[in-house]
Amino acid sequence: MNNFIYGNTTKVYFGKGGVKEYLCCLLKNVGDTVMLAYGGGSIKKNGIYDEVTAILQKAGKTVVDFPGIMPNPTYAKVQEGAKRVHENHVDFILAVGGGSVIDCCKIVSAQAKSAEDIWEMETVKRDFPTDFIPMGAIVTAAGTGSEMNNGAVITNEAQKIKCGLMGAQAQFVFLDPSYTMSVPFKQVISGAFDTLSHGMETYFGKPYDNNLSDDINEAVMRSVIRNIRILLRDHENYDARSELMWASSMAENGILKIGKITDFQCHQIEHQLGAYTDCNHGQGLAVIHPVLYRHIYKNGVERFVRFAENVWGIKEKKTAEKTALAGVEALATFIEEIGLPTSFMQMGIPTDTNFRAVADSTNITAGCCKKLTHDEIYEILQECI
Ligand code: NZQ
Ligand code: ZN
Repeated sequence: MNNFIYGNTTKVYFGKGGVKEYLCCLLKNVGDTVMLAYGGGSIKKNGIYDEVTAILQKAGKTVVDFPGIMPNPTYAKVQEGAKRVHENHVDFILAVGGGSVIDCCKIVSAQAKSAEDIWEMETVKRDFPTDFIPMGAIVTAAGTGSEMNNGAVITNEAQKIKCGLMGAQAQFVFLDPSYTMSVPFKQVISGAFDTLSHGMETYFGKPYDNNLSDDINEAVMRSVIRNIRILLRDHENYDARSELMWASSMAENGILKIGKITDFQCHQIEHQLGAYTDCNHGQGLAVIHPVLYRHIYKNGVERFVRFAENVWGIKEKKTAEKTALAGVEALATFIEEIGLPTSFMQMGIPTDTNFRAVADSTNITAGCCKKLTHDEIYEILQECI
């Protein structure tokens, strides 16, 4: 196994009622002014906003609202948040929402402590922030796993780039599966598929040696598949939602990446598609994954065979290549089974989108088994239409 250093500084409070029981206590020493950051208003409809503000008031905090963080958060929104932190002398940021709210807050937290433009600093100078306004998170929609790492995906609308930045890591996170009951079901499935994608993008990253990370990853992927199927039959199944919520954190808390290089080529393509179309992350991944894997499986037959057998339970076919392809087709069939889109048209992405520009602006990763060219990415995008 490759050398590694592992640590995770986020303390997790998992389960029903955690916010009520522990949040007040956790806020004791964070300062007087707390910025409550959230999205487009779902937390006002489902009662989470009232629950959290009551606790903040009981804890004697001055509450500064930061609403309106959109899905696929923008760099302009980050700047708005940093300004609000300064104007109100915010001591602590509490992010309440899905991946978009948490991601935006991670970068607000860094920008508020830096005199430099954080986008320029990270993407041009390749310098990374070390000073942050401390933050905590309450997850209301699972999938991205953003709550247990310091990565954030931000869209720079002016530059048409959606990419990962490094920001703050939440000191604590509440994962209460009952908070996800009000998430539109399509988004629940799209989030769960995002988790499966994180598993796959890590699994197909090198090296392919015998390692514990891949063994755990297979269990996580099988669990996601099993629990999505349970939810399809029984939308409100608390146990299945719990498993999916924890799988989401497990896929992105670094455990599965130990000793691995990881790939994330599908994410890089989807992020640029998002920069051009503002599409839903999980849906974009669902369309691109099978097409991408059909392009590359012949370059990594052994790994794709293991994926087919250990994740999808496929029995050996006549040739290894056939077994490998059967795994990719099982993934494609699963995507249809769970009602995710299988083409950009089904996602409502206009056919006159500048796919050439999407392809050319996509980061090429080390590659799981084949390093793609921009022309190949363009071909893949064309096949997704
Ligand atoms: O904005 P509100 O009104 O809250 O509505 C949201 C939003 O419309 C809604 N929602 C969330 N919790 C809800 C709820 N609706 C009803 N009841 C609730 N309890 O769900 C919609 C989607 O929310 P969003 O946060 O955008 O979804 P998700 O968690 O999938 O996050 C997507 C973003 O995360 C990035 C994606 O690229 C995308 O920008 N990612 C972040 C990663 C990371 N930091 O590690 C990794 C991922 O690969 C991903 O790229
Ligand atoms: Zn993702």
